[in-house]
Amino acid sequence: MAWVKVAQAGDIPVGGMRRVTVGEDDIALYHLEEGFYATSDTCTHASQSLTEGRLEGHIVACPKHGGKFDVRTGAAVAFPCVYPLQTYPVEVRDGEVWLDYEEYP
Ligand code: FES
Repeated sequence: MAWVKVAQAGDIPVGGMRRVTVGEDDIALYHLEEGFYATSDTCTHASQSLTEGRLEGHIVACPKHGGKFDVRTGAAVAFPCVYPLQTYPVEVRDGEVWLDYEEYP
């Protein structure tokens, strides 16, 4: 796989997020003021879906134990999360959100 279309940009409002499945992976799409970002949807602490949590600016908060990640870099920024999330390149093309999955098969 390479670039795959995963959403219509207009379907995810600024400040929103959505889980999409590509191949075997659940991926979280985030729509920030500055554009779209994508990470693994699975919290690195205990396998919770992050899109079931809260997005506050560029920080996603896990609903299970309150750990947090910077969705722009995947970095863990609040305990108990210490390991980063996988991130994926994202582009918007003619109103469609595309994600580069090939780099991380
Ligand atoms: S499962 Fe996400 S903080 Fe524990």
